Amino acid sequence: MSLLIKNGEVVTASERYEADILCENGKIVRIERGIEAPDAEVVDAAGKYVFPGFIDPHVHIYLPFMGTYAIDTYETASQAALVGGTTTLIEMCCPARGDDPLESFHLWKSKAEGVSACDFTFHMGVSRYDEETAAQLRQIVAEGISSFKVFLAYKGAFGVSDEELFHVMKLAKELGVIVTAHCENPDLVLEMQKKLVAEGKLEPKWHYWSRPPEVEAEGTGRLMTFAELLGTHVYVVHLSCKESLDRAVAAKRRGVNAYVETLIQFLTLDMTYAELPDFEGAKYVMSPPLRHKSNQEVLWNGLKTGLVSTCATDHAPFNFKDQKPMGKDDFTKIPNGIPSLEDRVNLLWTHGVMEDRIDIHTFVDCASTQAARIFGLFPRKGTIQVGADADLVVYDPGYEGNISVKTHKMAVDYSAFEGWPIKGRPHVVTVRGEVAARDGEFVGTLGRGQFLKRVPSHF
Ligand code: URP
Ligand code: ZN
Ligand code: ZN
Repeated sequence: MSLLIKNGEVVTASERYEADILCENGKIVRIERGIEAPDAEVVDAAGKYVFPGFIDPHVHIYLPFMGTYAIDTYETASQAALVGGTTTLIEMCCPARGDDPLESFHLWKSKAEGVSACDFTFHMGVSRYDEETAAQLRQIVAEGISSFKVFLAYKGAFGVSDEELFHVMKLAKELGVIVTAHCENPDLVLEMQKKLVAEGKLEPKWHYWSRPPEVEAEGTGRLMTFAELLGTHVYVVHLSCKESLDRAVAAKRRGVNAYVETLIQFLTLDMTYAELPDFEGAKYVMSPPLRHKSNQEVLWNGLKTGLVSTCATDHAPFNFKDQKPMGKDDFTKIPNGIPSLEDRVNLLWTHGVMEDRIDIHTFVDCASTQAARIFGLFPRKGTIQVGADADLVVYDPGYEGNISVKTHKMAVDYSAFEGWPIKGRPHVVTVRGEVAARDGEFVGTLGRGQFLKRVPSHF
């Protein structure tokens, strides 16, 4: 079956032109004006943009964490992703310290295979280092993974020591694997938590004060030091503040191959949300925490200038009714995470492009192309060209609506953006040439998503 997208304005990270796009056998086969294909299914894209499918390079779907599990499955998450214009997910595979890495990788993969409606791959979490782990990591890379994930935070659960970090990064350099990292100083977090709890400061708003910007900046600086010494390519996940960006940029200037990811939450929400009364603030507890509003301009400008490469979600959904309350009397026990998988693209469009903070090419670049380039998916994903996968988003800039838990496809029972207006949304979303979402509804095929094998390139 072929698919013809007619009369749209094609926009990539670097180009903008009017053309039709013909897709056959899951690939883009022709891009030119006036294509006729009588047997093809036709999507009328007049008055609309045609973007490459968006890539979310940091999501959690299967996540055992803080005594509970993130609430989405690939069934709900891939539908939410597609309705929101995201056609590729890169999930964090997060084994706990005692878990077997290879078994964990296969477990995470089994949660997606045969279920996901969109394509997917993983960053392989490394939560300890020894000879057996190293051998298994080599095997996991041979099976198609080209990025690792380390947590400098969450001591005792996912976190690695400096000694372990050294060896993971040394191995990554040898294998050409990029290391993605959650950068916060674990001991500072623990000591600050203890101090706050001892002072009776237990509400959600105190979460911020256990992880102030200095804690993240220290973690980022430390990762940069290791990268500088070992030559490993690194990617700072969910960077939230100026202090941390300054450390990454200073390292880039010294020649470190460092990439920075920020989140749609950090671009649009600030710490006052976590200060909301009556435990409402728990909806906004994540790590690193939401920051002072002044950081938003720094992050938007980071995207605009390329100092920040990607805008992800770190989608980590925990219900407000029965999961967030695990920390009702103690903020350190609130499951960390803010769901945003479905809303990233529309929020980035509305608050970025529509409010003139970033241009349309930067929008495509940071929400799709950069992730494809950094994580070894380009040009199969992340752009519109002949031979690429036909993952396309026909985007309606004229749509106006509101975000709500009442309509979202994510399994979680609240929206961090309840009632927020959006301007623009995907009209049609395709996965390898098949229409998978239309005007806010999923019309695709569960189980059609493929595991994307990747090859290391960060030598
Ligand atoms: O608060 C967050 N970010 N939850 C998900 C786990 C992580 O640290 O990425
Ligand atoms: Zn993290
Ligand atoms: Zn995360």
